[in-house]
Amino acid sequence: MKKIGVLTSGGDAPGMNATLRAVVKAGTYHNLEVIGIEAGYIGLLEGRYRNLDILDVEEIVSYGGTIIKTGRTKEFQREEGFNKALDNIKNLELDGLVVIGGNGSMKGAQKLSEAGIKVMGVPGTIDNDITGTDYAIGFDTACNIVTETVDRILDTATALVGSTPRVFVIEVMGRHSGEIAMTSTLAGSVDALLIPEQEVDYDQISANLKRKFELGKNYGIILMAEGVGKVDEISRELEMRLGFKVRETLLGHQQRGGRPTAFDRVLGSKLGAEAVNQLVKGESSKMVGVRNNVVKAVELKVVNSDKKKFNTKNYELTKMLCY
Ligand code: F6P
Repeated sequence: MKKIGVLTSGGDAPGMNATLRAVVKAGTYHNLEVIGIEAGYIGLLEGRYRNLDILDVEEIVSYGGTIIKTGRTKEFQREEGFNKALDNIKNLELDGLVVIGGNGSMKGAQKLSEAGIKVMGVPGTIDNDITGTDYAIGFDTACNIVTETVDRILDTATALVGSTPRVFVIEVMGRHSGEIAMTSTLAGSVDALLIPEQEVDYDQISANLKRKFELGKNYGIILMAEGVGKVDEISRELEMRLGFKVRETLLGHQQRGGRPTAFDRVLGSKLGAEAVNQLVKGESSKMVGVRNNVVKAVELKVVNSDKKKFNTKNYELTKMLCY
């Protein structure tokens, strides 16, 4: 093995740069040339790439985003586009490829490996919805940002005393997964959690809030994942039931930016280096992940065939903490 490629694909996640640093450093350590493919699979299609040496990654561990950019493309899924990508991999004489990204990126990685390319996946998405790993890179940073937002809203919620209670609904990312909302509920002072994995029970939410208001609490904080619906519509629904105005916050892309937490940097470092170690050992068609604190490689087939198991225990705990 002489030369490997690396790309970041799909939604960027804080910690992707830490992962890139580890891939380049581990590659260089193993005497490999490392090529950074730009903008994910788009760069593979269009032949956009550049050499990465240790000086390119020396200082990036603390940066959000990804220095080789990321992208989403439908063309890669079509036969013509896919064949173009294969040709470029051959022209570049890559002996292996590290794909850092979310579920869609892991599917692309499997397709490449089925076409004979040696591929190793690394889970990078704030959504943390990938099978085969307890944590994906970026998730911890996103949860910290959401937790800080809840703390800030709590300050204003508790500072202003009025005759009617104030209820705040905060929408966080997660089109198909409530992981960010659920974990941040465990970390913050939250009264209700709305996630796509569970049916929304407005009656139960309003009854719980009213019970707390009767006890003397005069505010409520609700966390919802974007997959549940639109924050303004959900707020109007709650207003109807509660009989007063509900305030809303849409956190959006702030959750994807900023400095990665130490956890995400360490995770990215471990998984990026392990992806290269696995390729050097001759392994392919796997994704490196972390299970019960141990770094492990899982078959991409398994990653792509199963939906990540919903964490029922955490959900039960949120019900108790919100009560
Ligand atoms: O990275 C995953 C994710 O953050 C989802 O939770 C969200 O729905 C989506 O990306 C938004 O992505 P984009 O900004 O690229 O449309």
